[in-house]
Amino acid sequence: MRVIVELNREAVGRRAAQFVADLVRREPTCVLGLATGGTVLGMYAELVRLHREEGLDFSRVVSFNLDEYVGLGPSHPQSYRFFMQQHVFDHINIDVRNTHVPDGRALDFEAHSEQYEKMIKEEGGIDLQVLGIGTDGHIAFNEPGSSLGSRTRLKTLTEETVRDNARFFGSMEDVPQLAVTMGVGTILESRRCLLLACGDAKAKAVRNTVEGPVTAQVTASALQLHREVVAIVDEDAGRLLERRDYYRQVEQAQTLLRSGRAPQIAADR
Ligand code: GLP
Repeated sequence: MRVIVELNREAVGRRAAQFVADLVRREPTCVLGLATGGTVLGMYAELVRLHREEGLDFSRVVSFNLDEYVGLGPSHPQSYRFFMQQHVFDHINIDVRNTHVPDGRALDFEAHSEQYEKMIKEEGGIDLQVLGIGTDGHIAFNEPGSSLGSRTRLKTLTEETVRDNARFFGSMEDVPQLAVTMGVGTILESRRCLLLACGDAKAKAVRNTVEGPVTAQVTASALQLHREVVAIVDEDAGRLLERRDYYRQVEQAQTLLRSGRAPQIAADR
């Protein structure tokens, strides 16, 4: 896994947006896997800026979001569909018909989950999956104990996640207890992953994900099995990483590679 430690939240957002924008420029019909939450806001703001000021073109991009709360429809201000419209889709030229978020009000979640997986396959799979991380080390809503081979399905949220997300709802009682979420197995099938983490509260989860054992108790740790993951964290979220100096060294070598002063080889995954 490549680990990039940036100075602060803003720098994480800009760096992450660069990865996404590079892909969109290179492959205008790419399939993006998208995430919600406070961490990804900076990245979305930068992508919106790149669209407005530099004409970054999303017209042929397809997107699939990771998850949605059960019971919340698209007009509910805390639904992830609402979040995506508010912060991203309403401000770029993506065709809304090409954007997919699981339906929190599906009548048959099993059928809906299967259909979601099928749609991802029909689009040729996800080229780049953006991920945040929960304080318990979850990706999407794959709470500790989720099968590392899991597919899109319903998941019961842990008390820790409900507490963490209560800040968006006002009270813990208002947070849905269930979500429909891509599985760890679904995420591992994407071609590249971009994991973002900011703030002190994520430090332990980041350490366990990057340097701990691969375990279903920290579902993000399954990313160690993926061939192309870039983790971008800020100083606070990266403060418990034991091999920070090495990660910096790798980034310096990467800069050298990009500058053409070293042979062009795929390195340091
Ligand atoms: C929720 C989402 C995750 C996200 C996490 C972190 O649990 N389902 O996909 O990674 O929140 O959110 P935040 O960035 O707000 O800390």
